[in-house]
Amino acid sequence: MYREFTGGRLRVAPDEVSFATREAAKEIYTSGGSGYDKSSFYSLFGNFGASNMFSTLERNKHADKKKRFAERYNKVQVMRTEASSIIQEHAEAFLSQCAENVGRSVDIYALLHCYALDGITGHLFHPHGTHSITDPNDLAMMKELSYSTSLKKQYLQHYFPRLSALVGKISSFRQRRSDGLVTRYVLETVREATVSPHTVLHKLRTYESEDDDHKAAASECMDHLVAGIDTTGDGLCFLMHHLSLPEQQHIQERLHAELVANPSTPLDDLPYLDAVVKEGLRVFSPIPMSFPRVVPEGGKVVEGVWLPGGTIVSCQPHTLHRLDTTVFPLPEEFRPERWLQPEGAVERNQLFFAFAAGGRGCIGKKSGLSILALLEMKVLLKAVYSTYRTRIAPDMVASMEMDDQIISSRPKGQKCLVVFEQIASD
Ligand code: HEM
Repeated sequence: MYREFTGGRLRVAPDEVSFATREAAKEIYTSGGSGYDKSSFYSLFGNFGASNMFSTLERNKHADKKKRFAERYNKVQVMRTEASSIIQEHAEAFLSQCAENVGRSVDIYALLHCYALDGITGHLFHPHGTHSITDPNDLAMMKELSYSTSLKKQYLQHYFPRLSALVGKISSFRQRRSDGLVTRYVLETVREATVSPHTVLHKLRTYESEDDDHKAAASECMDHLVAGIDTTGDGLCFLMHHLSLPEQQHIQERLHAELVANPSTPLDDLPYLDAVVKEGLRVFSPIPMSFPRVVPEGGKVVEGVWLPGGTIVSCQPHTLHRLDTTVFPLPEEFRPERWLQPEGAVERNQLFFAFAAGGRGCIGKKSGLSILALLEMKVLLKAVYSTYRTRIAPDMVASMEMDDQIISSRPKGQKCLVVFEQIASD
């Protein structure tokens, strides 16, 4: 569909326009101190009957919520040993699974979602984070979260209530039972657990006097948990699947060479690893769709076009990462090398939109990149590709097509079988 954009814009409904230029993204998401208010679509994301930062529509109220805990996601906090060692520990658990299953098919879709869940719950609740790679009870929570279609259902209810009621009647016998494991885990942890001082929950408790029933804190934590599992899990899954294809083995070889030549180099100083991760997020953006915002009262000019107040406007990573082929030549091709070229670097980074832009993009962004998400991805890739080569398993038949989940996307078959082979050290 992105090819239908003309002049960097596409009218997708009578009152809705999608844009695909840097200038439009800047206006919509950053102007006047973090851009236009969110559309009512985001009300779907409240939890326990309480709103949270992500579901808050007005930017001033959003800013008030954000300042209560945002520092827990900044670079200094995320890189502190107490926080980063949690991620390292879960990468080691992932690696143990690789070691135990060398030469056999391993479902990395499941394992990577476990890794992402364990990483974010550790950041929120340490020492009460999950260990779903090794603990079957926690694994059940990963399954409840990552194999569900609840957002699609909520979306239908929001935009098409009558149709949704009808579909509900027809299909209710087919619906999966949600046993509420995650809901219980979050509520109980928020209400009762003693957590480490560096966690997000510890910071949120500073405001406990305004939150008698703990629902505001629980809503916030639930949102971060959900925001952190499928994004990182799917992003890594698409990327590792792609690297495992026969024609992409040269990328693995170059990555392996960089990693073994620089075992103690800080992750941010490994240019090829950085390029592989960014190219993965460019081509397979975990949230590829539109982030809808509302033109303020009185109207605004976006990309040279006057739009009346109330018009829904948006940009999407999928289109921004492809449309301008002077910035991203051969945009469908996976080419990490493009990120290593000095010329065009400014333009590439300006169009990189995987984490959105401005103060309402992904939490803890620095130079357009989420520190925690990037750390999780790099730690895992370093652990795997320092030691192993991955190939698509012979019995891998599940579809890896990007499946529309309204705002995010995931591999359609929800299974990705790869084989880990140990690389002989020289
Ligand atoms: C590769 C991984 C990730 C990607 C691509 C990603 C992308 C995004 C994007 C595009 C948004 C803005 C969406 C919109 O405006 O509709 C967002 C918001 C958010 N993300 Fe992420 N994210 C990732 C990982 C994470 C992780 C690990 C966390 C951990 C807590 C997280 C927490 C959040 C939160 C809390 C928001 C809402 C921010 C706000 O309302 O100010 N994300 N993310």
